[in-house]
Amino acid sequence: HDLIREATGYYGAEAGGLVLLVLLENQVTGYLLFSLTTAVIGSLQFGYNTGVINAPEEKLRAFFNSTWVERYGVPISPGVCTIVWSVSVAIFSVGGMVGSFSVGVMANRFGRRRSMFLVNVLAVIGGLLMGFSTICSSYEMVIAGRLVIGLFCGLFTGLTPMYVGEVSPTPLRGAFGTLHQLGVVVGILIAQIFGLEGLLGSDKLWPLLLALTVVPAVVQCVLLPFCPESPRFLLINLNKEEEARKDPEAEVTMTSEEEEEEEEEEEEEEEGSERTEGFALVRLRGSEDVSKDLQEMKEESAKMAMEKKVTIPELFRSPAYRQPLLVAVMLQLSQQLSGINAVFYYSTGIFSSAGVKQPIYATIGAGIVNTIFTIVSLFLVEKAGRRTLHLLGLGGMAVAAVLMTISLLLKDIPAMSYLAILAVMMFVAMFEMGPGPIPWFIVAELFSQGPRPAAMAVAGCCNWTANFLVGMSFPKLVELCGPWVFLIFATFLVLFFIFTYIKVPETKGKTFDEIAQSFGSPPPTSSGVEEPPAGASSAVTLPASPLKEK
Ligand code: GLC
Repeated sequence: HDLIREATGYYGAEAGGLVLLVLLENQVTGYLLFSLTTAVIGSLQFGYNTGVINAPEEKLRAFFNSTWVERYGVPISPGVCTIVWSVSVAIFSVGGMVGSFSVGVMANRFGRRRSMFLVNVLAVIGGLLMGFSTICSSYEMVIAGRLVIGLFCGLFTGLTPMYVGEVSPTPLRGAFGTLHQLGVVVGILIAQIFGLEGLLGSDKLWPLLLALTVVPAVVQCVLLPFCPESPRFLLINLNKEEEARKDPEAEVTMTSEEEEEEEEEEEEEEEGSERTEGFALVRLRGSEDVSKDLQEMKEESAKMAMEKKVTIPELFRSPAYRQPLLVAVMLQLSQQLSGINAVFYYSTGIFSSAGVKQPIYATIGAGIVNTIFTIVSLFLVEKAGRRTLHLLGLGGMAVAAVLMTISLLLKDIPAMSYLAILAVMMFVAMFEMGPGPIPWFIVAELFSQGPRPAAMAVAGCCNWTANFLVGMSFPKLVELCGPWVFLIFATFLVLFFIFTYIKVPETKGKTFDEIAQSFGSPPPTSSGVEEPPAGASSAVTLPASPLKEK
C-alpha cells in the first residue's frame, strides 16, 4: 500500500492504489481483464437493444404509415399502427425468452467462447434487417430484426455471466459478475444518448441507430479468438466428453491391440486438455502457480463424474436442485417484478405526468444514476455480500415506490415534480445496488458445472418472461390504477424482501462446490444412488460449509 502511495505520489490516488493492490493480490492480469471486457460486449449489446427502441417511436410509426400508403394507397389506421408498434417492441422479449432457453445446449455443445462467437451472426442479421428496412419499404423487416436481436440478447444474458463466472478468481467473482450489469447499463445510456434527435434519432438516421448493433458484434468477433476458452469448460466438460466416448459396446468389439491404442490416445488427449486448460489459467492468472484453481476445478470435476447429466426436465425433477432453483428463479423475478423496466420503458411518460418540464433529460439523468450505482455496487459486492445488498436494494426500492406514489397523488403541488425525480433516481439507484446485478451472476454461483447451463437457461427464461409481462401490462395497469400503480411493485418488493431474508444464502467468497453443498441434499449420482451427505467420508469429500444466514 505504501509503495503504491509513494509511486503514485499523492494521497488522492490512494483509492486507485488500493484497487490496484486488490487486483494484484488476486492475480488479476491484463489478459483476464481483456477477456472479461470482450465478453461484456455482449452485455452492452443487451442494454443497447433494450434502450434503443423508445426514442424513435414517432419515427417508426411514421415509417409504418408511409409503407402502408405505398402498398395500399391509404394511411394506416391508428389501431393497426399501435399493434405493429407494440409487436416491434415486444417481440424482442419473445426472442429473448427463446434465446435464453437455448443457452445450455449451445454452451455445452460449442463451449462458451465459440458460442459467443457464433451468436454474433444473429446480431449482424438482425442489425442489417432493421438497417435496410426503409430502403426495402418493409416494416416486417423491423419486426423480424427485433426478433433476431432478441434471440441474440437472450443467448448473451446466459453466455456472458457464465463465462465471466467461470474465468474469474473466487474472491472477485461478485465484482466481476457485476460487470455484466455494468455493460447493460452503459448500453442503455449509449442508446438513450444516441437516440437524441440531434444525433441518430432523426427522421433519416433512425435505421442506422437500430443497425449500429452490428459494430460491437464485429469487434467482439475480432477479439474473441484472442481470449481463452473457459478453463472450467476445458477441464470439467471435456473430460466428461472423454467418459462419454468410452461406451461399453465399442469396448466389447475392440481387439486388445486396438484397446491399447485407444488408451494411449486417451492419455495423450487428457494430457493435452489439461495442458490447454492449465495454459489458459496460467495466462489468465499471470502466474505459474494455478494449483489452487486447478484443485477446486478437479474437486468439482470429480463430483461431476458422479452426477447425472442434468437436462432441464431433470433440473425440475431432482429434489437436490429444488432449493437453488427456487432461489435463482425468485431472484430473477424480484429483478423484473420490481418494476424497473416500467421506469426504463416509460420514464418519460411518468415524469411528464408528475409535472416535470423536460422529461427526456430526467430520463437520461436516470440512465446516468443507473450507471453510477452499478459501479458503486461493483465495489461493495465483495465487502457487503450479495444477500445484504439485495435486501438493501429491495427495501430501498419499496420506499422509493411509495414516494413515487405520493408524488403522483399530490402532483398539483409544484414541488412534487422534484419528489418524483428524486423518487425515480432513488428507485434506480437502489435497483443497481443489488437487484440489478446480483440475479444475473448468482445463478452461475448457485450451481456446479453439471447443472449450471440448464439452470442459467431456466432462470434467464423466467427473467425475460417477467420482463415481457411488465413491459406489456404496465400501460394497461396505469389506465386501471392511475397514480396508485407503483404500489403494486411496492407489494412485490416487500414479498421478495421477505423471501430473500428467509431463503437466500450468502455466496460471497465460497467456491462453486461449497455453495452447491450448502443447499443440503446431495446431487443425484449416475448410479441413481445418493451420495453420502457432505462431510461424510467419500472419495471426494469436501469441507461441509452450510451457509449461515447472517
Ligand atoms: C437488468 C435487467 C434489465 C433492465 C436493466 C436496467 O439488466 O435485466 O431488464 O433493463 O437491468 O438497468
